[in-house]
Amino acid sequence: MTPFKDFYQHTEPTRVISGRDLIGSTGFEFQKEGAHRVFVVTDEVIRATGLVERAEAGVADGGLEVAGVFDQVPQDSSTEVVERCAAAAKEAGADSFLAVGGGSVMDTAKVADAVFTHGGGAAEQEGFFLMPREDDGMGRPLDIAPLACIPTTAGTGSEVSMAAVIKDPERKVKLEIADFPLFPRLAILDPDSTRTLPAAIAAATGMDAMTHAIEGYVCADWSPHQDARSLQALRMIRDNLERAVERGEDDEDARGNMLIAANLAITIALGSVHAMSHPAGAHFGVPHGMANAIHLPHVIEHNAAGGPEIAERYRDVAELFDVTDPDVGPALAAHVTELVGRLGLPTRLSEVGVPEEGIPALVEGAMGDGTTLLNPREMAEEDYEELYRRAL
Ligand SMILES: [Fe+2]
Repeated sequence: MTPFKDFYQHTEPTRVISGRDLIGSTGFEFQKEGAHRVFVVTDEVIRATGLVERAEAGVADGGLEVAGVFDQVPQDSSTEVVERCAAAAKEAGADSFLAVGGGSVMDTAKVADAVFTHGGGAAEQEGFFLMPREDDGMGRPLDIAPLACIPTTAGTGSEVSMAAVIKDPERKVKLEIADFPLFPRLAILDPDSTRTLPAAIAAATGMDAMTHAIEGYVCADWSPHQDARSLQALRMIRDNLERAVERGEDDEDARGNMLIAANLAITIALGSVHAMSHPAGAHFGVPHGMANAIHLPHVIEHNAAGGPEIAERYRDVAELFDVTDPDVGPALAAHVTELVGRLGLPTRLSEVGVPEEGIPALVEGAMGDGTTLLNPREMAEEDYEELYRRAL
């Protein structure tokens, strides 16, 4: 039986609206969150699809103004981009942010919003629960400008999370920032926003969502609230991910359901898959979802061998995928590896430009990553070394 958890907290303050043809209602909905002059954050690829134009029309249709558009977010955003984005929003006289894009765009908008509101640089925002608060830091966290998100990938769940990850190119680390004010006020889930998503990105970001759901369920910081979210996310991923990747544009239901699954899966309670993937991104530019897809089976096998209680948690996950082998670690790991292969994603780090000589830096990064502390099995340098070697 599941024990009574000693302590946890759960917050999900973001208003989520989900359905068809919602982009045109962006202004009508965002007005209810206090937005007037909206600064749109996106990237050039999304802008070229015409989605940003439709979101802008939706903003205007609700009687709000588009103060400006920043479309310079790269695939892997950095502190420099965040600071440029915040400065452009100031210059434009904006009072709110609308992110139209994937994880990198949404995380850029979150941190840019914090810099826009509180000043300082992007790196100064780093940390967990360290944003400015009333009463000399002991009171309520200070709000940042209203932020709405229209996710264009079904994966990161950043549209309903309090976390953002931004690269600091000088220090070669991924800054992790998490605090309550970073929860967006509004998330708009409309399958039209993932209509043109390339299959490879749908696959990688879908595996990010799957990783969130599994790590959130097995990690030391598990909670009954997240259990409910993780298990339903996994059912929806099981039923929709391959369909969404294979059928893409032709399967609005699968794409819509994946947006919801990603939304349910997200949590800041993660584990060693994320600890391994963050440095792979920081040092070798391995896209986040792809890195998770590569690391996930190895971490499952390692963790499940860490004791009967951990294995039991993985057994709940395995059951959803009809994996019934009592030796759950290798069986679930094999199931995930097969899925990753069917999705057309790489299964080895050497396929995505990680050399063997890179392992020591990766191990150091993984040991220093905050999510290592939440992994259900305690991790030492030798463990990560071995896992990276297996994944190579
Ligand atoms: Fe992730």
